[in-house]
Amino acid sequence: MSTGAGNGAALAPRSPDVTSSSVYADGVPYDRFAEMRATPGLVWHPYGEDGFWAVTRHEEIRLVSRQPEIYSSAVGHTNLWDLEADALEARRSLIDTDAPDHTRLRRLVARAFTPKNIRRWEHTVRSITGQLLDEFIDAGEGDWVESVAAPLPIRVILTLLGVPVEDSAYLVELSNHLVEGTTDRPTLAADAYGNTTDPRLLPFNSPASHALFTYGEQLGDQRRAEPQDDLVTMLVQAADDGDRLRPEEYRNLFHILVFAGNETTRTAITHGVMALADHPEQWQRVLDDRSLVEPAVEEILRWSTPVLHMRRTTTGPTELAGTAIEGGQKVVMWYASGNRDEAVFDDPTAFDVGRVDNPHQAFGGGGPHLCLGAFLARLELIVLLQEMADRGLRLRRTGDAVRVPSNFVNGVLSVPMAVVA
Ligand code: HEM
Repeated sequence: MSTGAGNGAALAPRSPDVTSSSVYADGVPYDRFAEMRATPGLVWHPYGEDGFWAVTRHEEIRLVSRQPEIYSSAVGHTNLWDLEADALEARRSLIDTDAPDHTRLRRLVARAFTPKNIRRWEHTVRSITGQLLDEFIDAGEGDWVESVAAPLPIRVILTLLGVPVEDSAYLVELSNHLVEGTTDRPTLAADAYGNTTDPRLLPFNSPASHALFTYGEQLGDQRRAEPQDDLVTMLVQAADDGDRLRPEEYRNLFHILVFAGNETTRTAITHGVMALADHPEQWQRVLDDRSLVEPAVEEILRWSTPVLHMRRTTTGPTELAGTAIEGGQKVVMWYASGNRDEAVFDDPTAFDVGRVDNPHQAFGGGGPHLCLGAFLARLELIVLLQEMADRGLRLRRTGDAVRVPSNFVNGVLSVPMAVVA
């Protein structure tokens, strides 16, 4: 791995700090990203003893995402920090692979996530959403994250996977520990849940990952013996030209599916509803014209950008935006910045539910790793807005949102909301 002290990096313009958690205390530092977008070429961001090239414009995020042979997901994984080689290997999942491994794995699971297959679950999503909204309306007020935004995606994914209702509290508990593992305040002991693996080798350094692996394996065994109409059955049966998921591939996928759609969709639901409460005239437009539900969902995704960045590592020397990049350097795509790029979006700081041209990068910049769960996340958001509109539900904020102190997720821990009579 390069030290980052290479000529290009030494001479390049320096980035303002966009990695310290404190910079995110009051929200995404959009002004700093605007400054970076306005700087010609790429800017170099010091990070630890090394650094990374910050990619902040929409067009260059597209280019990096769509050239995986130059910008690798496997060489150094997709987070800012590095992992030791054994940990990287043990923790490797779909998101940290390149072709041909990635192509093979993705082909095996893609079928379960096509729009056609996801649409089959609309009724389930609608009934979970309706129940949570009715409970919130009955209560009249509460923490929106705890009451609706967090339970909605986890209940949906557990139902789709085929986790029996009686186990869902346990899985929610595990999933919460994983979310906690992304902060600097994890609370689990290394041997929790009977874990004997070095936590360094587990996703999020968390013994909850061990528990989730074990659970996923047991459920997979059951479904192999007695197939049901659910995603776990589709995964254990997934086959292509005689090719099948290997056991460790299956358990890593089960893990990523339980986790990946949780924190992210929760964040979109929270920021989306906060934006609609803060811009009641925009929500009124949706109430008056239901054809605006889908563009409103796309605007919520652009506005909230739940995943702020992903990293790649160069496989050899290359050039981007006129800047020379050495092999083995980190390149970080800031989706939060691409989604405010004034070269692509008219009036990018406005929340506009009727935005017509909205090629946002909330699910990534395209290319092979584009979010696998994008159709499912969209379905959840569309159904949420439809069910809110059916109930004529208007919400207002009754206090400040508490943010997750993170440069990776645009998360909100809690936000008090009340039903407007
Ligand atoms: C609003 C909600 C969501 C957002 C904003 C989001 C965002 C993202 C982003 C930015 C990536 C990386 C794209 C790239 O590197 O090019 C990604 C990948 C992924 N997402 Fe999502 N996601 C969401 C919901 C979901 C859901 C509901 C699931 C599954 C149930 C899911 C599963 C995955 C998986 C498996 C990958 C890795 C795909 C690959 O490497 O081929 N996501 N997502």
